[in-house]
Amino acid sequence: MFVLGIETSCDETAAAVLTDDFQILSDVVLTQDEIHAPFGGVVPELASRRHLESIVYVVEESLRRAMLKLDQVDAFAVTQGPGLIGSLLVGLSFAKALAYYFKKPLIPVDHLEAHIQSALLKAGEVPYPALALVVSGGHTQAFLMKGKLDYMDVSRTRDDAAGEALDKISKFLHLGYPGGPVIERLAEKGNPDAFQFSIPRMTDGSLDFSFSGIKTEAIKKVRDSGIDRHDARLSDFLASFEQGVVRALIFNLEQAVGVYEPQSLILCGGVSRNRRLRREFQELARRKKLEFFMPQPRFSTDNGVMVAALGVEKLARHCHTSFPLSLNAYARRPSLRGKS
Ligand code: KG4
Ligand code: ZN
Repeated sequence: MFVLGIETSCDETAAAVLTDDFQILSDVVLTQDEIHAPFGGVVPELASRRHLESIVYVVEESLRRAMLKLDQVDAFAVTQGPGLIGSLLVGLSFAKALAYYFKKPLIPVDHLEAHIQSALLKAGEVPYPALALVVSGGHTQAFLMKGKLDYMDVSRTRDDAAGEALDKISKFLHLGYPGGPVIERLAEKGNPDAFQFSIPRMTDGSLDFSFSGIKTEAIKKVRDSGIDRHDARLSDFLASFEQGVVRALIFNLEQAVGVYEPQSLILCGGVSRNRRLRREFQELARRKKLEFFMPQPRFSTDNGVMVAALGVEKLARHCHTSFPLSLNAYARRPSLRGKS
């Protein structure tokens, strides 16, 4: 069986073909970074227009690399949400048309669940319950999984996502977009203890995240110390800020480990490409004696492989729609706290 996965939730147009035993036959990702870079963040209208221009090429290229024709695809998996609604609609409408025309199953996939799947591509048996943290430009959210495809909300950010905070500080200092990788590169030789950042704590005892405070703290430090992008202290400042964001993530995750007592930990999403975060995450897992899973760095950011992979899992459980034309995109994931 061949499953084609399509992803257009933000600013990457991506498609991939997987076999039903998870062999990756193709993986095509067309990034829009150069269009959004001048604005320091994703411009939704430009993103959806570019998806529209790229989708045919990206899907055709994924089939060419897999050496398949469209009518040989057995099922179509597509990101339904959450994300930018105009962007989502491009991929979803495209996949709906293909499934309808070729009379093949259409498998709607949640973007955050697909990110979790990216960490499990090469995983053998996952010890459940697993605590999964998705950290990206649009989302910072943790889930407790009691088994495969079973996600219970644990916590989410109340304001900015972690990647968004990195992107915004990069924009503020005119360092480039996306900010996460730029900050990581510039922070490499910096002293992470040169500037102190506080770890945000919820006063109501919840496990939710918050990154607007640390972002404001960073902007204030830049203003007070007069640091700009040419300053010799820049790498120290960025290393400290990066460490602050990583510590906030790990601190909350550790709290959640205490509450939910999982058997394993999962880290995923674009920010999981960050080496400092990967290191601290592994340390936490070792300290707690838990198995852990992370995607290969190339599967951390948005891609079609994770969508097709989750598609394969869902198809095996008959979680496809019988009415492809009635599917709609959603910008926000509905909150399913306490429910699987
Ligand atoms: O998962 P993703 O591709 O898109 C969303 O679903 O949002 O994540 C993109 C985010 C951006 O905020 C980007 O700055 C961040 O991932 N990112 C990184 C790194 N690579 C990408 N953050 C920190 N370090 C990196 N190496
Ligand atoms: Zn993503």
